[in-house]
This record gives sequence, C-alpha cells and structure tokens, in this order.
Amino acid sequence: MEHILLEKQVRPHVSLIRLNRPQQLNALNLQLMSELRDTIQELDQDQDTHVIVVTGDEKAFAAGADIKQMEGKSSVDMLKIDQFNTWDQIRKTKKPIIAAVSGFALGGGCELAMTCDMIIASESAKFGQPEIKIGTMPGAGGTQRLTRALGKAKAMELVLTGDFLSAEEALSRGLVNKIVPVEIYLEEAFELAARIAAMPPISVQLAKESVNQAFEVGLSQGLVFERKNFYLTFSTEDQKEGMNAFIEKRKPNFRGK
Ligand code: HXC
Repeated sequence: MEHILLEKQVRPHVSLIRLNRPQQLNALNLQLMSELRDTIQELDQDQDTHVIVVTGDEKAFAAGADIKQMEGKSSVDMLKIDQFNTWDQIRKTKKPIIAAVSGFALGGGCELAMTCDMIIASESAKFGQPEIKIGTMPGAGGTQRLTRALGKAKAMELVLTGDFLSAEEALSRGLVNKIVPVEIYLEEAFELAARIAAMPPISVQLAKESVNQAFEVGLSQGLVFERKNFYLTFSTEDQKEGMNAFIEKRKPNFRGK
C-alpha cells in the first residue's frame, strides 16, 4: 500500500485507515481508491475488526478526486476507467465505517465521508462539492447524499456555487454526528467506534443494513426489511446473551455468534 496506512486495534476491535497523500491534500487518485477498497474489504472479512475508522490528516480529509489525473480525460476514458465500481464496493461494506474529518472534505472527499456511516468532524472541517468551479459536477454521490442530508435548497446552493459548509453548519444540518476540537477529533471517532465495537456484531450489521434501506425503498418495504432483520437477530447467541444478561443484572459477553 502506497497511499493508505492501516492500523489495527487502535481500540478493541477498531481498525484505522489513514489516507496518506498529505502533499496533495489526500487527493483521491485511482491507486489510493483501489487501495482503500482493498483494505476496507480485508477489514470487512477480519474477525478482529468490528468497526472501521477512515481519516486523513488535520489539514485535509481529502480535497477531492485527483484533478491532475482526470484533467486530460475524455468521457470515454472515464467510462472505461469505471472508477465508480470501486466506490460501489466500498458502499457495500457490512461493518460500520466512521469518517474522522478535519480540514478539507471536498468533492470526492466529501462524497467519501458521506459514503461512510457516520462523521466525526474537527472544528476546522469544511465540506463542499466545488466540482462546478472546475467545469464538472459531483460524480460519486454528492448530488444525492448531500441532498438527502441537507435538503434540496442548501444542497443545490453548495453544488451550484461550490461554497464550503462549515463544521457548525454541517452539525446543525445533520451532515455530521459531532464536532470537537482538532486535537481530539480522532480520539472522539475512536471512542464512538469502540462503543459500537462492543455491541453484538451481527445485530450491528443487520441494523446498519436496515437504516441504509431507508434511503433505498419506501416505508412499507423498509418496515418489512427491518422486521425480517429483527427476527433474524433472534437466531443469534448474542440475543440470548444480551437478554439474559439484562435479566440477571450483569454485563453481557457478546461473542459475535
Ligand atoms: C489534485 C490537489 C487537489 C486535487 C489539492 N491538490 N487538491 N491535487 N487533485 N483535488 C494539490 C495542489 O495541487 C497542491 O499541489 C497541493 O495539493 C496543496 O494544495 P493548494 O491548492 O496549494 O492548497 P491550498 O492553497 O491550501 O488550497 C486548498 C484547497 C485547494 C482549497 C483545498 O487545493 C483546492 O481547491 N483543491 C481542489 C478542490 C476540488 O476542486 N475538489 C474537487 C475535485 S473533482 P502542488 O503540487 O501544487 O503543491 C472531484 C470529483 C469527484 O472530486 C467525483 C469522482 C470521484
């Protein structure tokens, strides 16, 4: 891996992936994205990892797709490169992914943060889809996810002007879970990750899948989907353990079974 750093067990059952092209503000070139996809897929299969944290550095989570790599390309070149196949695979990750964002999360960087399940932001985080300023538009979900998160008016404004959204505004509009000082944003993401990593992993996976269904289907279908996953949790040992522990007034010992 050239552009990705992986650190396992930063907390029990929590793994950290760091985007590592600091000189280019972690611009997401094709190699970085496929390394990210490979690492996430490896962690999704890794028994010791329950939750994944993705971060950049203090100055930038990621300043977008790599403009220098895209600059001379034709539509056909872009179609053949088919980079969104990589993004689709990341989107299918079963385990929760938390984005720890400081500094710039722009274009593909903002889209990557939104592809994650939750966002912990530092006070310096700036979100935006500035593609319009370089003659293109969002391509990795920005028009869809930003609109779902912020509502039409604000999403339209950001996509058409390229303006940035401050951390405070991102919080007040529900794009991010929490903002904290720069010094502790990664710690804060680890704390959230550790709390989720201590939950029964099969229920976590089924619950993540169910919440995401809310963005795919109508309410009736979504409720049916949720109900089936709810029933499924009753086939796990962790459900028996969780309920027994409650009744016996002790801490549950979840085993992911
Ligand atoms: C390639 C980038 C880059 C990018 C920054 N750099 N963003 N290289 N692709 N997206 C490089 C710069 O060229 C420079 O390299 C170095 O990182 C530092 O950047 P500066 O511009 O000098 O830093 P600063 O003045 O602090 O400005 C920060 C910035 C600006 C406001 C974030 O870099 C910026 O506007 N970047 C582009 C943001 C953007 O348009 N993103 C959308 C991309 S399109 P050198 O070698 O000169 O030192 C996109 C499409 C997604 O994301 C859909 C498909 C996945």
